[in-house]
Amino acid sequence: MKEIKVGLLGLGTVGSGVFEVLKNNADEISRRSGCRIRVTRVVSRGLDAVRKMVGPDIAISEDPFDIVNDPAIDVLVEVMGGTTVARDVVLAAIARGKQVVTANKALLAVHGNEIFAKAREQGVMVAFEAAVAGGIPIVKALREGLAANRIDMLAGIINGTTNFILSEMRDKGLSFDAALADAQRLGYAEADPTFDIEGVDAAHKATLLASMAFGVPVQFDRAYIEGISRLAAEDFTYAGRLGYRIKLLGIARRRADGIELRVHPTLIPERRLLANVEGAMNAVWVKGDAVGETLYYGPGAGKLPTASAVVADLVDVARMTDVADEHRVPYLAFRQDQLQPVPVLPADQMETAYYLRAQVRDEPGVLADITRILADEGVSIDAVIQRQPAEGEPTTDIILMTHRTVEQRIDAAIGRIEALPSVPSSVVRLRVEQLN
Ligand code: NDP
Ligand code: HSE
Repeated sequence: MKEIKVGLLGLGTVGSGVFEVLKNNADEISRRSGCRIRVTRVVSRGLDAVRKMVGPDIAISEDPFDIVNDPAIDVLVEVMGGTTVARDVVLAAIARGKQVVTANKALLAVHGNEIFAKAREQGVMVAFEAAVAGGIPIVKALREGLAANRIDMLAGIINGTTNFILSEMRDKGLSFDAALADAQRLGYAEADPTFDIEGVDAAHKATLLASMAFGVPVQFDRAYIEGISRLAAEDFTYAGRLGYRIKLLGIARRRADGIELRVHPTLIPERRLLANVEGAMNAVWVKGDAVGETLYYGPGAGKLPTASAVVADLVDVARMTDVADEHRVPYLAFRQDQLQPVPVLPADQMETAYYLRAQVRDEPGVLADITRILADEGVSIDAVIQRQPAEGEPTTDIILMTHRTVEQRIDAAIGRIEALPSVPSSVVRLRVEQLN
């Protein structure tokens, strides 16, 4: 049987999972791929631990370029992370004609245009199923299963760490720090967890999803990114009273004049399936013109779920190595020469509905002032609640839900509301999506 030789770069959470899956499921994988997929070299730090994990027969070292320079290796599996050394190694591997499998969404969101262009020149594959939503085959769904559709919009819970934190805080009353520590212990979090918490990891993934959905180059630098670190407990309570849950969503939407690409905490109706995705699970909702609404659900992070996606890519590589480049599935779902330079719209042009919470002095006319400002700015109100202040409490909260509008108008309205003498602190603004 033909053998595919793999150089595994990184033996951390994902790398050790890849090694384990390839070993445990070797026969099943061979029956599927028609090849024996074998790790022949591992590069990672801490060679004693590496040797203990991989046994005596595999070459090990600490220099990432050892894989590039090993002429016997067919495929580089990059599960090391980062965007500097990883970029150099991946480009060097491509230049040597090696196939590449990576779980590194940061790398592709930032350097994807360059990497895919070089890979195309060399006629090699760059497979990245694990880079978006861990174990969920969403890349395959977008590139192949939904190929008949013009995709209008997608929205996903695409960061396991933040979804885990939001779930633990709501269900178990854990503090933010305790929930984050659990996510790190379970191997969900990025090396720098601020990437998770501040929405950057989700934006990396949303960038790739948008490119595959709409056939546009990756445009991470144009994405609007807002994380979960400023969410307040009372907003979960008020959202619940209004029939909504708060999730960190990555959203890509096609508009006549461009695309929206944004990551932010979002209120979604609690009856939506997406609102009920808990823990480190991910889900991506995709709306196509022919198929309608579809939803893909599964584990978005962790050792074996992510390894499942990496190894699936290896099986694809094994199946497609002998197939001519032009007959393979394009990297970003559309043929490289058919990607269109459609711009990502500026954040103040996004269109969505809003949840606003204003702390106000409990005095006559405040609500009227706020609603007048919203009316002046052309923002239509959908619902209002006001908290009953405690006896003698000088302030209370007014919560407003608006109909869809342009962010620019809400910004203008918030500026005017915050200038009112009866509004002593900043207005909290969260976005709302109905997803129907
Ligand atoms: P880990 O930190 O657990 O593993 C990375 C491994 O690579 C470590 O063993 C690390 O060594 C080694 N390494 C890092 N830099 C170098 C270097 N310059 N030379 C040699 N070895 C190096 O990360 P993960 O396994 O969690 O993630 C790997 C990739 O997969 C990342 O791109 C991540 O975004 C992505 N990913 C992770 C998921 C997850 O659930 N964890 C899910 C989906 C994607 P050391 O420990 O000494 O730093
Ligand atoms: N840190 C990421 C997450 C890993 O929490 O989802 C999976 O990409």
